[in-house]
Amino acid sequence: MRVCTRRRSRTLRLWLLIVFLSLHLLVVSLVLSIYHTSCELHSYPDIQTSISFSVQNTSASTSTMAAAGSDTQEVEMDSTADNLAKLEALYSHPLYNLPTPPLPDGDWLLKLRTQKKEEEHSTQQWLSANEDGYDPIRWNASAETHPPWLRFHLGISRWQMYQHKDPSLSALTQQMASHRIVSAVQKSGGTQLKLVMSFPNYGQALFKPMKQERHEETNVNLYYFSDFERHNAEIAAFHLDRILGFRRMPPVVGRLVNVIREIKDITTDHKLVTTFFTSPVGNACFYGKCSYYCSTEHAICGRPLKIEGSMAAMLPDLSLAQRRSWRSPWRRSYSRSKLAQWETDSNYCDSIKKTPPYDRGTRLVDLIDMSILDFLMSNMDRHHYETFEKFGNDTFLIHLDNGRAFGRHSKDEPSILSPLVQCCRVRRSTLLRLHLLSLQSYRMSDVMRASLSLDPLAAVAPLLTEQHLSALDRRLETVIQTIQDCLQQHQHHSDVIYDDISDYPGA
Ligand SMILES: *[C@@H]1O[C@H](CO)[C@@H](O)[C@H](O)[C@H]1NC(C)=O
Ligand SMILES: *[C@@H]1O[C@H](CO)[C@@H](O)[C@H](O)[C@H]1NC(C)=O
Ligand SMILES: *[C@@H]1O[C@H](CO)[C@@H](O)[C@H](O)[C@H]1NC(C)=O
Repeated sequence: MRVCTRRRSRTLRLWLLIVFLSLHLLVVSLVLSIYHTSCELHSYPDIQTSISFSVQNTSASTSTMAAAGSDTQEVEMDSTADNLAKLEALYSHPLYNLPTPPLPDGDWLLKLRTQKKEEEHSTQQWLSANEDGYDPIRWNASAETHPPWLRFHLGISRWQMYQHKDPSLSALTQQMASHRIVSAVQKSGGTQLKLVMSFPNYGQALFKPMKQERHEETNVNLYYFSDFERHNAEIAAFHLDRILGFRRMPPVVGRLVNVIREIKDITTDHKLVTTFFTSPVGNACFYGKCSYYCSTEHAICGRPLKIEGSMAAMLPDLSLAQRRSWRSPWRRSYSRSKLAQWETDSNYCDSIKKTPPYDRGTRLVDLIDMSILDFLMSNMDRHHYETFEKFGNDTFLIHLDNGRAFGRHSKDEPSILSPLVQCCRVRRSTLLRLHLLSLQSYRMSDVMRASLSLDPLAAVAPLLTEQHLSALDRRLETVIQTIQDCLQQHQHHSDVIYDDISDYPGA
């Protein structure tokens, strides 16, 4: 009798255990699937309102990304939802939706050529090298049917790389992140290895492979010009530029690339092919040909096959849109022993202000915008910048090549901010957005964390470590303080503030 009871209770306990375990599994898989879908659905850059995670408490939001366990995951999910809501609120703010001036014909970089007679078409290539713009034969008149890279090119205007709420942007990043790669060749020029990847619909992206772990800081003894280029810096820079409201960078997205199937097997680059090998632990590696870090000691290796990298949308071919390269007046000496003039001459800006093209229009404040961006992400490597030739001097500065940003989080580099410090000049729209990003409700680190969580590589690991995110908040404070100091040194606000948005309310 007693044996019987004991057995029954044991069976009961076993049953309870099974029920408990399966419930637990169900909950875990449900949580994981919600989390996973959200990563895929919110692929860049459509911020959707319908984020269904629970509990919205900002004070619970911060950090403990590193730890594991289901409790932490819940906190993370809540804060992700929270921060996505912040990002969405930021992008809905009037300062990000300022009325754009009407764009006359000449303010677009490119256009589709008007349809000509069929017989002329038949002999032409898919893409016209004519300076008028793209040939419409292949790209049928209705914009919906254009491939995303073409919509991106057609959306470039005098003052920005893309529109604030441009729907083609998410199509473009999705293409770069997931479409089949049909060709991969090394890009000539430049010091470090990068590949031009092509897609079946003629789109192209510039691929920079991962070279450094995210938690590693740049070696303090390394000069800025020999620092690694970081794939996550390229991605994060694009998000930061957008969060600052500049929109002066071509879109960049992360991707896991198969070293063999998506590079070695399809490349027509014979020099590249000879640099592939299998590492002692069986990982697929290659190193390419370039002037820095292209050797077996600095090989780029899959784990075992896939490597992380950044995919940046290529700008229109130079045959369609010439670019002009400008030497930055605050360029570093690129020498281990010499200083540049701006480093010793305290009146340097006065002479720059009188020098074309900095003597008129927005060129100087645009350069200062760029130095603010660079200071925030600690990019010391901005020796040149480019503009589109077509627009002359009155146009935005293209923020290209950001791989050497986000190298150090524990230290700030005040000299990057020299243009602002020495000139004491800033666009009003920039200042107001910086203020916004310093508020708890739009906090810079939170909106960056949210924005970066939309990148496909965020599923592998957060694109910036928490230290880098909090460095952004710290540096933002420095920028705002610098402007405050400028205002105190100058009698009139208008000496410091360049009012580019005079219709916008407020002092
Ligand atoms: C958020 O949580 C903190 C403590 O965890 C609490 O003090 C605060 O009132 C909460 N805020 C909201 C809006 O619920
Ligand atoms: C454009 O597309 C429409 C429908 O998709 C098609 O009927 C038309 O022939 C196409 N025109 C050209 C020039 O390809
Ligand atoms: C543009 O800038 C250059 C300075 O490099 C100057 O020589 C030229 O006159 C400027 N063009 C206009 C139209 O202001």
